[in-house]
Amino acid sequence: MQQLRWHHFQRVTDLCTTLVAALTTLANESIRARGAFHISLAGGRTPKIIYEQLRHIQTDWTCWFIYFGDERCLPRGDAERNDTLALSSWLAHVPIPDAQIFAIPTELGAALGAAEYSKQLRALTEFDLVLLGLGEDGHTASLFPGHRLDADASAAITVDAAPKPPAQRVSLSASRLSAARAVWFVVTGADKQLALLRWREGEEIPAAHILPAAGVDIFTDVDLAAH
Ligand code: 6PG
Repeated sequence: MQQLRWHHFQRVTDLCTTLVAALTTLANESIRARGAFHISLAGGRTPKIIYEQLRHIQTDWTCWFIYFGDERCLPRGDAERNDTLALSSWLAHVPIPDAQIFAIPTELGAALGAAEYSKQLRALTEFDLVLLGLGEDGHTASLFPGHRLDADASAAITVDAAPKPPAQRVSLSASRLSAARAVWFVVTGADKQLALLRWREGEEIPAAHILPAAGVDIFTDVDLAAH
């Protein structure tokens, strides 16, 4: 049974300020305790405001290790790639060593990209933090309703007919995204209300299959009280 903790904010700016402060604390505690902070980033547009604020936090960037929850099969540098947004809004502005930023090599094609990324993830048993978004249909990363959420023991899986373009993607599996000390969903905008209500009611949307031992935190500005 997925344990959900809801954090509701009236304004997106308040959500971001709170989340960035909590992320900074979590990162610096991980670095103090284990000398590193391993984070998997959310795709889509929602996290942009968060990534922009992360540029300015106080931390030892040389201890940060960046991964991605999913990637679209597009050439490296394409404006529609998830890593392009993270790089332009944040990662290109802080001194994280390039060797510690693990982009999903989808420019190799979905199958080879997924195989390569699964290999890269073998050395990491769990993320310190996984950031995820939520689609209007309840998808997260590139795990879509009616599609497979896991594929044998592979950490990264191919997605061939994603309803959200582009159709071809690579996603971390539900199991791999669940291997985390903390999982935070960031969900803003009234267009996500139905997906959140379905989730809260216990519907088996893909986001409901992310099952870290410590449960899941949902940061949202969407009003669910009236329902
Ligand atoms: C993607 C994302 C996807 C995204 C949600 C929400 O590749 O599109 O990984 O899972 O997080 O679709 O997208 P928005 O933040 O743009 O609403």
